[in-house]
Amino acid sequence: MSGKTKESVNRIVKPNQIDYLLSLLNEDDELIFEMESFAHKNKIPILDKLSLQFLLTLTKSKQVENILEIGMAIGYSTIQIAGVLSPSAKVEAIEKSENNLQLAEKFISKSGSKNKIVIYKGDALHILPTLQTKYDLIFLDADKEDYESILNQSVGLLKSNGVLFVDNLLWHGHTAASRVPSKYKKSTEQIRKFNRLFMSHPELSSTILTVGDGIGFGVKK
Ligand SMILES: C[S@@+](CC[C@H](N)C(=O)[O-])C[C@H]1O[C@@H](n2cnc3c(N)ncnc32)[C@H](O)[C@@H]1O
Repeated sequence: MSGKTKESVNRIVKPNQIDYLLSLLNEDDELIFEMESFAHKNKIPILDKLSLQFLLTLTKSKQVENILEIGMAIGYSTIQIAGVLSPSAKVEAIEKSENNLQLAEKFISKSGSKNKIVIYKGDALHILPTLQTKYDLIFLDADKEDYESILNQSVGLLKSNGVLFVDNLLWHGHTAASRVPSKYKKSTEQIRKFNRLFMSHPELSSTILTVGDGIGFGVKK
């Protein structure tokens, strides 16, 4: 489990409840364990395990054919999503950090799922308007200052009944706190604004769940 995960979720759900739920998950394979250790050591944020379990269950249950991940980092979620897809389905992933892209390519080539993953290199704000596919599921996990701009573009790329799955909407507990450390003030305001737009978006039926660091779950009408 990444350090980020523990820190994020502990303020929202009791630590013993998290530990209990984590104890029910199956063991990771070697590559996933290596990626978790790498991310933890190098302070690269990855999706926490309970949110990931939710995302993978959703992917399977919706029989997703096209999924887009916005913010791939080292490919931790991407590889695991690819692992639950049907043979004809693909995960497309956008990443702008050259360093993370190199790491992701290295891990993906070790994963055996390379043929199920399509990578777009660059800023999602520039790439999203060029995409032609309509997606069953979009997983938004990028810089928080980009969330608001990405919201409408993502909704436009969803199929009817497609799901927008967004991480970090409780932002380590800060979005609901009355006092926010100065280091987090700007990002917290950005996420609070995003949350209001997300919950009242005319094309979405939305909810925010206290899973992990707060998961936004919006279904396109
Ligand atoms: C939280 S990490 C993603 C973790 C990944 N989803 C996972 O669960 O393994 C966020 C990543 O998004 C990338 N990112 C942030 N804003 C972006 C943008 N506008 N376009 C493309 N990538 C972006 C960052 O470089 C970083 O690697």
